[in-house]
Amino acid sequence: QIPLLIDTDPGVDDALALLMAFDDPRHRVVGLTIAAGNVGLDHTVANALKLCEVAGVDVPVFPGCASPLLHPARDAAYVHGRDGFGDTGYEKATKQAEAEHAALAILRLSHQHAGRLMLVALGPLTNVALALKLDPTLPSRVARFVVMGGAVTGHGNITPAAEFNIYFDPEAARIVFEGFPHIDLADWEATVAHGFAHDEVERWLQADAPLARFYDSISKKTREWSSDRRGDHWHAADALAMAYALEPEGATELVERPVAVELEGRHSRGATVVDWRREGGAGDNCRILMRYDQARFEARMRRALGA
Ligand code: BDR
Ligand code: CA
Repeated sequence: QIPLLIDTDPGVDDALALLMAFDDPRHRVVGLTIAAGNVGLDHTVANALKLCEVAGVDVPVFPGCASPLLHPARDAAYVHGRDGFGDTGYEKATKQAEAEHAALAILRLSHQHAGRLMLVALGPLTNVALALKLDPTLPSRVARFVVMGGAVTGHGNITPAAEFNIYFDPEAARIVFEGFPHIDLADWEATVAHGFAHDEVERWLQADAPLARFYDSISKKTREWSSDRRGDHWHAADALAMAYALEPEGATELVERPVAVELEGRHSRGATVVDWRREGGAGDNCRILMRYDQARFEARMRRALGA
Protein backbone atom coordinates (compact mmCIF):
# COMPACT_ATOMS: atom_id res chain seq x y z
CA GLN A 1 0.00 0.00 0.00
CA ILE A 2 1.17 3.51 -0.84
CA PRO A 3 1.37 5.77 2.24
CA LEU A 4 -0.92 8.77 1.78
CA LEU A 5 -0.81 11.99 3.78
CA ILE A 6 -3.68 14.44 3.30
CA ASP A 7 -3.59 18.13 4.16
CA THR A 8 -7.21 19.25 4.34
CA ASP A 9 -9.75 21.80 5.64
CA PRO A 10 -12.98 19.77 5.97
CA GLY A 11 -15.28 21.06 4.42
CA VAL A 12 -17.99 19.11 2.66
CA ASP A 13 -16.08 18.16 -0.49
CA ASP A 14 -12.97 17.42 1.60
CA ALA A 15 -15.10 14.95 3.56
CA LEU A 16 -16.03 13.05 0.42
CA ALA A 17 -12.39 13.01 -0.71
CA LEU A 18 -11.33 11.61 2.68
CA LEU A 19 -13.96 8.84 2.53
CA MET A 20 -12.65 7.91 -0.93
CA ALA A 21 -9.09 7.76 0.42
CA PHE A 22 -10.09 5.62 3.44
CA ASP A 23 -11.88 3.25 1.09
CA ASP A 24 -9.00 2.71 -1.36
CA PRO A 25 -7.22 -0.63 -1.12
CA ARG A 26 -4.03 0.58 -2.84
CA HIS A 27 -3.36 3.40 -0.34
CA ARG A 28 -3.04 3.68 3.42
CA VAL A 29 -3.84 7.07 4.96
CA VAL A 30 -1.02 7.75 7.43
CA GLY A 31 -2.27 11.10 8.68
CA LEU A 32 -4.53 14.09 8.20
CA THR A 33 -2.86 17.46 8.62
CA ILE A 34 -5.45 20.14 9.10
CA ALA A 35 -5.57 23.60 7.62
CA ALA A 36 -7.85 26.56 8.24
CA GLY A 37 -9.81 27.45 5.13
CA ASN A 38 -13.42 26.60 4.52
CA VAL A 39 -13.98 27.47 8.19
CA GLY A 40 -11.75 28.11 11.20
CA LEU A 41 -9.22 25.56 12.44
CA ASP A 42 -11.26 24.56 15.51
CA HIS A 43 -14.06 23.41 13.21
CA THR A 44 -11.86 21.81 10.53
CA VAL A 45 -10.09 19.77 13.23
CA ALA A 46 -13.38 18.73 14.88
CA ASN A 47 -14.80 17.76 11.48
CA ALA A 48 -11.77 15.64 10.60
CA LEU A 49 -12.01 13.82 13.93
CA LYS A 50 -15.73 13.25 13.46
CA LEU A 51 -15.25 11.92 9.96
CA CYS A 52 -12.61 9.42 11.14
CA GLU A 53 -15.01 8.26 13.84
CA VAL A 54 -17.97 7.89 11.48
CA ALA A 55 -15.82 6.07 8.91
CA GLY A 56 -14.37 3.82 11.63
CA VAL A 57 -10.73 4.56 10.79
CA ASP A 58 -7.88 5.13 13.18
CA VAL A 59 -5.90 7.89 11.48
CA PRO A 60 -3.97 10.55 13.44
CA VAL A 61 -5.20 14.14 13.02
CA PHE A 62 -2.61 16.93 13.28
CA PRO A 63 -3.87 20.52 13.72
CA GLY A 64 -1.95 23.09 11.69
CA CYS A 65 -1.94 26.84 11.14
CA ALA A 66 -5.02 28.75 12.28
CA SER A 67 -4.58 31.54 9.74
CA PRO A 68 -2.78 32.35 6.47
CA LEU A 69 0.92 33.29 6.60
CA LEU A 70 0.40 37.04 6.24
CA HIS A 71 -3.21 38.08 6.02
CA PRO A 72 -6.36 37.49 8.05
CA ALA A 73 -8.53 34.52 7.11
CA ARG A 74 -11.65 34.84 4.94
CA ASP A 75 -13.57 31.62 5.14
CA ALA A 76 -16.22 29.96 2.98
CA ALA A 77 -18.79 29.33 5.71
CA TYR A 78 -21.49 30.55 3.30
CA VAL A 79 -20.79 27.42 1.21
CA HIS A 80 -20.00 24.76 3.84
CA GLY A 81 -22.05 26.03 6.83
CA ARG A 82 -20.68 27.89 9.87
CA ASP A 83 -19.16 24.67 11.24
CA GLY A 84 -17.96 23.52 7.79
CA PHE A 85 -20.19 20.43 7.94
CA GLY A 86 -23.60 21.91 7.18
CA ASP A 87 -24.49 22.97 10.76
CA THR A 88 -26.19 19.69 11.62
CA GLY A 89 -25.23 19.98 15.28
CA TYR A 90 -23.51 16.59 15.24
CA GLU A 91 -22.18 15.17 18.48
CA LYS A 92 -18.43 15.79 18.79
CA ALA A 93 -16.08 12.84 18.29
CA THR A 94 -14.46 11.30 21.35
CA LYS A 95 -11.24 10.86 19.37
CA GLN A 96 -8.62 13.52 20.17
CA ALA A 97 -6.25 15.43 17.90
CA GLU A 98 -2.47 14.87 18.15
CA ALA A 99 -0.24 17.44 19.87
CA GLU A 100 2.29 17.58 17.03
CA HIS A 101 1.88 20.53 14.63
CA ALA A 102 0.78 19.69 11.08
CA ALA A 103 3.93 21.16 9.50
CA LEU A 104 6.15 19.03 11.74
CA ALA A 105 4.03 15.94 11.09
CA ILE A 106 4.41 16.49 7.32
CA LEU A 107 8.20 16.56 7.72
CA ARG A 108 8.33 13.57 10.08
CA LEU A 109 6.09 11.43 7.89
CA SER A 110 8.09 12.45 4.81
CA HIS A 111 11.17 10.94 6.49
CA GLN A 112 9.31 7.87 7.70
CA HIS A 113 7.96 7.14 4.20
CA ALA A 114 10.75 8.77 2.17
CA GLY A 115 10.47 8.13 -1.56
CA ARG A 116 7.04 6.47 -1.25
CA LEU A 117 4.79 9.10 0.28
CA MET A 118 1.95 10.63 -1.68
CA LEU A 119 0.96 14.05 -0.35
CA VAL A 120 -2.45 15.40 -1.30
CA ALA A 121 -3.41 18.99 -0.43
CA LEU A 122 -7.12 19.78 -0.45
CA GLY A 123 -7.11 23.15 1.28
CA PRO A 124 -5.08 26.35 1.51
CA LEU A 125 -1.36 25.57 1.38
CA THR A 126 -0.31 27.20 4.67
CA ASN A 127 0.88 24.02 6.42
CA VAL A 128 2.76 22.72 3.40
CA ALA A 129 4.45 26.12 2.88
CA LEU A 130 5.53 26.19 6.51
CA ALA A 131 6.92 22.66 6.26
CA LEU A 132 8.85 23.68 3.13
CA LYS A 133 10.29 26.73 4.88
CA LEU A 134 11.38 24.56 7.80
CA ASP A 135 12.93 22.03 5.43
CA PRO A 136 13.30 22.86 1.71
CA THR A 137 14.40 19.26 1.00
CA LEU A 138 10.84 18.02 1.65
CA PRO A 139 10.00 17.56 -2.09
CA SER A 140 12.90 15.11 -2.50
CA ARG A 141 11.11 12.65 -0.17
CA VAL A 142 7.62 13.02 -1.63
CA ALA A 143 6.93 10.58 -4.46
CA ARG A 144 3.87 12.43 -5.72
CA PHE A 145 2.23 15.70 -4.72
CA VAL A 146 -1.37 16.37 -5.74
CA VAL A 147 -2.93 19.79 -5.16
CA MET A 148 -6.55 20.85 -5.49
CA GLY A 149 -6.28 24.52 -6.34
CA GLY A 150 -6.16 27.24 -8.95
CA ALA A 151 -8.14 28.21 -12.01
CA VAL A 152 -5.89 27.57 -14.96
CA THR A 153 -7.71 29.62 -17.58
CA GLY A 154 -8.77 32.29 -15.16
CA HIS A 155 -12.33 31.33 -14.24
CA GLY A 156 -12.09 31.71 -10.49
CA ASN A 157 -14.69 30.78 -7.89
CA ILE A 158 -13.87 33.25 -5.10
CA THR A 159 -12.85 36.20 -7.28
CA PRO A 160 -13.23 36.39 -11.06
CA ALA A 161 -9.58 35.32 -11.38
CA ALA A 162 -8.80 33.21 -8.31
CA GLU A 163 -9.81 29.89 -6.81
CA PHE A 164 -10.52 29.66 -3.06
CA ASN A 165 -7.60 27.50 -1.83
CA ILE A 166 -5.01 29.70 -3.52
CA TYR A 167 -6.76 32.99 -2.73
CA PHE A 168 -7.07 32.15 0.98
CA ASP A 169 -3.28 32.11 1.34
CA PRO A 170 -1.54 33.22 -1.86
CA GLU A 171 1.84 33.69 -0.18
CA ALA A 172 1.79 30.08 0.97
CA ALA A 173 0.74 28.95 -2.50
CA ARG A 174 3.62 30.92 -4.06
CA ILE A 175 6.10 29.22 -1.70
CA VAL A 176 4.71 25.79 -2.56
CA PHE A 177 4.50 26.32 -6.33
CA GLU A 178 8.09 27.60 -6.33
CA GLY A 179 9.41 25.01 -3.88
CA PHE A 180 8.00 21.82 -5.39
CA PRO A 181 9.53 20.93 -8.76
CA HIS A 182 6.51 18.85 -9.72
CA ILE A 183 2.85 19.29 -8.76
CA ASP A 184 -0.13 17.29 -10.02
CA LEU A 185 -2.75 20.02 -10.19
CA ALA A 186 -6.51 19.47 -10.15
CA ASP A 187 -8.00 22.94 -10.51
CA TRP A 188 -11.44 24.53 -10.23
CA GLU A 189 -12.04 24.42 -13.98
CA ALA A 190 -11.52 20.66 -14.06
CA THR A 191 -14.00 20.50 -11.18
CA VAL A 192 -16.62 22.37 -13.18
CA ALA A 193 -16.09 20.02 -16.13
CA HIS A 194 -16.88 17.02 -13.90
CA GLY A 195 -20.17 17.89 -12.19
CA PHE A 196 -23.04 15.57 -11.32
CA ALA A 197 -26.73 16.36 -11.67
CA HIS A 198 -28.17 17.32 -8.30
CA ASP A 199 -31.11 14.95 -8.51
CA GLU A 200 -28.76 12.07 -9.28
CA VAL A 201 -26.60 12.88 -6.23
CA GLU A 202 -29.71 13.14 -4.10
CA ARG A 203 -30.73 9.68 -5.23
CA TRP A 204 -27.34 8.18 -4.31
CA LEU A 205 -27.46 9.77 -0.90
CA GLN A 206 -30.78 8.15 -0.11
CA ALA A 207 -29.00 4.77 0.02
CA ASP A 208 -29.49 2.79 3.19
CA ALA A 209 -25.83 2.98 4.21
CA PRO A 210 -24.40 4.81 7.24
CA LEU A 211 -21.84 6.86 5.30
CA ALA A 212 -24.37 7.90 2.67
CA ARG A 213 -26.74 8.97 5.46
CA PHE A 214 -24.04 10.95 7.23
CA TYR A 215 -22.86 12.54 4.01
CA ASP A 216 -26.41 13.41 3.03
CA SER A 217 -26.85 15.33 6.29
CA ILE A 218 -23.58 17.29 6.21
CA SER A 219 -23.77 18.15 2.50
CA LYS A 220 -27.44 19.19 2.32
CA LYS A 221 -26.85 22.92 2.84
CA THR A 222 -23.95 23.06 0.40
CA ARG A 223 -25.91 21.22 -2.25
CA GLU A 224 -28.83 23.64 -1.80
CA TRP A 225 -26.45 26.61 -2.04
CA SER A 226 -24.81 25.17 -5.11
CA SER A 227 -28.08 24.43 -6.88
CA ASP A 228 -29.27 28.02 -6.21
CA ARG A 229 -26.01 29.61 -7.25
CA ARG A 230 -24.32 27.31 -9.72
CA GLY A 231 -27.12 25.61 -11.57
CA ASP A 232 -28.19 22.03 -11.87
CA HIS A 233 -24.81 20.37 -11.33
CA TRP A 234 -22.98 19.67 -8.11
CA HIS A 235 -19.21 20.09 -8.08
CA ALA A 236 -16.93 18.32 -5.61
CA ALA A 237 -13.48 19.80 -6.18
CA ASP A 238 -11.60 17.80 -3.57
CA ALA A 239 -13.28 14.54 -4.56
CA LEU A 240 -12.09 14.92 -8.15
CA ALA A 241 -8.55 15.72 -6.97
CA MET A 242 -8.65 12.61 -4.78
CA ALA A 243 -9.93 10.41 -7.62
CA TYR A 244 -6.97 11.61 -9.69
CA ALA A 245 -4.59 11.03 -6.78
CA LEU A 246 -5.82 7.50 -6.08
CA GLU A 247 -6.30 6.42 -9.68
CA PRO A 248 -4.15 8.52 -12.03
CA GLU A 249 -4.96 6.04 -14.83
CA GLY A 250 -8.42 7.68 -14.94
CA ALA A 251 -6.98 10.92 -16.36
CA THR A 252 -7.80 11.23 -20.05
CA GLU A 253 -6.14 14.61 -20.70
CA LEU A 254 -3.15 16.10 -18.89
CA VAL A 255 -1.08 19.15 -19.82
CA GLU A 256 2.35 20.07 -18.41
CA ARG A 257 3.08 23.79 -18.05
CA PRO A 258 4.82 26.33 -15.79
CA VAL A 259 2.34 27.76 -13.26
CA ALA A 260 2.98 30.79 -11.03
CA VAL A 261 0.89 32.36 -8.27
CA GLU A 262 0.06 36.08 -8.54
CA LEU A 263 0.38 38.04 -5.30
CA GLU A 264 -0.23 41.57 -6.59
CA GLY A 265 -2.99 43.03 -8.65
CA ARG A 266 -6.28 44.69 -7.95
CA HIS A 267 -8.11 41.94 -9.80
CA SER A 268 -5.62 39.14 -9.95
CA ARG A 269 -4.29 38.42 -6.45
CA GLY A 270 -4.36 34.67 -5.90
CA ALA A 271 -4.62 33.84 -9.62
CA THR A 272 -2.67 30.88 -10.99
CA VAL A 273 -0.91 32.14 -14.10
CA VAL A 274 -0.16 29.39 -16.60
CA ASP A 275 2.51 30.02 -19.23
CA TRP A 276 0.54 28.23 -21.96
CA ARG A 277 3.02 29.19 -24.69
CA ARG A 278 6.05 28.45 -22.51
CA GLU A 279 7.53 31.84 -23.28
CA GLY A 280 8.71 32.86 -19.82
CA GLY A 281 11.62 30.44 -19.63
CA ALA A 282 10.42 28.69 -16.46
CA GLY A 283 10.31 24.90 -16.48
CA ASP A 284 7.03 22.99 -16.28
CA ASN A 285 6.26 22.69 -12.57
CA CYS A 286 2.69 21.44 -12.95
CA ARG A 287 0.91 18.60 -14.65
CA ILE A 288 -2.62 19.96 -15.00
CA LEU A 289 -5.62 17.64 -15.00
CA MET A 290 -7.93 18.67 -17.85
CA ARG A 291 -10.22 15.63 -18.17
CA TYR A 292 -10.91 12.57 -16.03
CA ASP A 293 -13.00 9.48 -16.73
CA GLN A 294 -16.36 10.51 -15.26
CA ALA A 295 -17.59 6.92 -14.90
CA ARG A 296 -14.56 5.97 -12.77
CA PHE A 297 -14.99 9.13 -10.70
CA GLU A 298 -18.66 8.35 -10.06
CA ALA A 299 -17.99 4.69 -9.24
CA ARG A 300 -15.29 5.59 -6.72
CA MET A 301 -17.41 8.24 -5.05
CA ARG A 302 -20.41 5.96 -4.73
CA ARG A 303 -18.37 3.05 -3.45
CA ALA A 304 -16.89 5.25 -0.72
CA LEU A 305 -20.39 6.29 0.35
CA GLY A 306 -21.86 2.79 0.07
CA ALA A 307 -24.31 4.31 -2.42
C1 BDR B 1 -11.84 24.37 -2.88
O1 BDR B 1 -12.23 25.35 -1.93
C2 BDR B 1 -12.95 24.74 -0.88
O2 BDR B 1 -14.13 25.43 -0.62
C3 BDR B 1 -13.20 23.32 -1.28
O3 BDR B 1 -13.12 22.48 -0.12
C4 BDR B 1 -12.11 23.02 -2.27
O4 BDR B 1 -10.93 22.57 -1.63
C5 BDR B 1 -12.54 24.63 -4.17
O5 BDR B 1 -12.22 25.90 -4.66
CA1 CA C 1 -10.94 21.80 0.69
